[in-house]
Amino acid sequence: MRLASDLATLPYSWYVDPAIAELERGRIFRRHWQYAGHLGELEGPGSAFPTHVGDLPALVVRDREGTLRAFLNVCRHRGSILVSQPGPRTSIQCPYHAWTYGLDGCLRGAPRSREEPDFEADELGLVPIAVDTWGEFVFLNADPDAPPLAHALGDLPESVSDNGLDIKGLRFHSRAHYEIAANWKIALENYLECYHCPINHPGLVGVIDERQLALQASGLRLSQFAPVHPDALAGRAAYDAQGEITRGQFHLLFPSTKFNTEPGRPNLSIGPVWPVAPDRCHGFLDYWFAPGEDAGWIEDFFAFDTQVGAEDTDLVESVQRGAGSGALEHGRMLAGAEQLLIAFQRQVRSALETDVSDG
Ligand code: FES
Ligand SMILES: [Fe+2]
Repeated sequence: MRLASDLATLPYSWYVDPAIAELERGRIFRRHWQYAGHLGELEGPGSAFPTHVGDLPALVVRDREGTLRAFLNVCRHRGSILVSQPGPRTSIQCPYHAWTYGLDGCLRGAPRSREEPDFEADELGLVPIAVDTWGEFVFLNADPDAPPLAHALGDLPESVSDNGLDIKGLRFHSRAHYEIAANWKIALENYLECYHCPINHPGLVGVIDERQLALQASGLRLSQFAPVHPDALAGRAAYDAQGEITRGQFHLLFPSTKFNTEPGRPNLSIGPVWPVAPDRCHGFLDYWFAPGEDAGWIEDFFAFDTQVGAEDTDLVESVQRGAGSGALEHGRMLAGAEQLLIAFQRQVRSALETDVSDG
């Protein structure tokens, strides 16, 4: 018997096939806004920080006039990474053969290029990409003609504040990188359902009341909300979840930016995931707390968060081994508990089926 097509998962071959991974790079990761860092990484006019947009190395620059710019972080000569450390700078000089670019991206100098009769310096500037901000958060889009970030964010900022988090009241704390031996879609599909939570996350289901989980899809935003668990308010949870945040909120901004707030004191983790191979993804999360938050509370919070992350990594790596084995063609999703996963897979499918020239 055939499944209703929107309840069948994507073909499992899409989690291992290099041709699909290549299509996703072009049609998803090079065309959507993704979180790339924050304004605190810039030290005023004349500074830059390296980051990624999808798997592309990128560079965010504050030029001397204060304008925010972004470029591919790849030298136009023979492709070296240009900048590997954040910091103040008056120019961007390639460490390989010292081609030097202005903070506006123009090629200002290339040793011995005067000896070249037809050296087209005007055409060898850094490749610009789109950059925009939501509060302190910096987003990039490899498509320089992308619609504005606000268009992609839709009602995410409103949803975040309506659910009790004031992002202006947060300070950057730290960044954590991670790598998972699973296709990026498997990692995010796991993120988009809490069907697995009661069995796999004893700590998490003691903090949020998973039985009251609410799911919401709006534009590129796929969101989960859950109130704090009553046991947590009685002090029986992995960390002290008492505080002004009484509702956890977990958003995915398609394709790959996660936004998490747990109940308790003001907190946020935000960051992207991107494919590094068909069966491997990399990501980072930037953690934010209220200024002057108690270090002991933050330590307990990280112990909790790290534990949940480790549980999820085991789950998704197991799915990669099973779904990616070729043993079965596809799986079957639940229309209720996995509705965000269904919406995510629909977005992936439509992005891959769209001819790039339709743009
Ligand atoms: S690769 Fe950058 S100057 Fe040669
Ligand atoms: Fe999980």
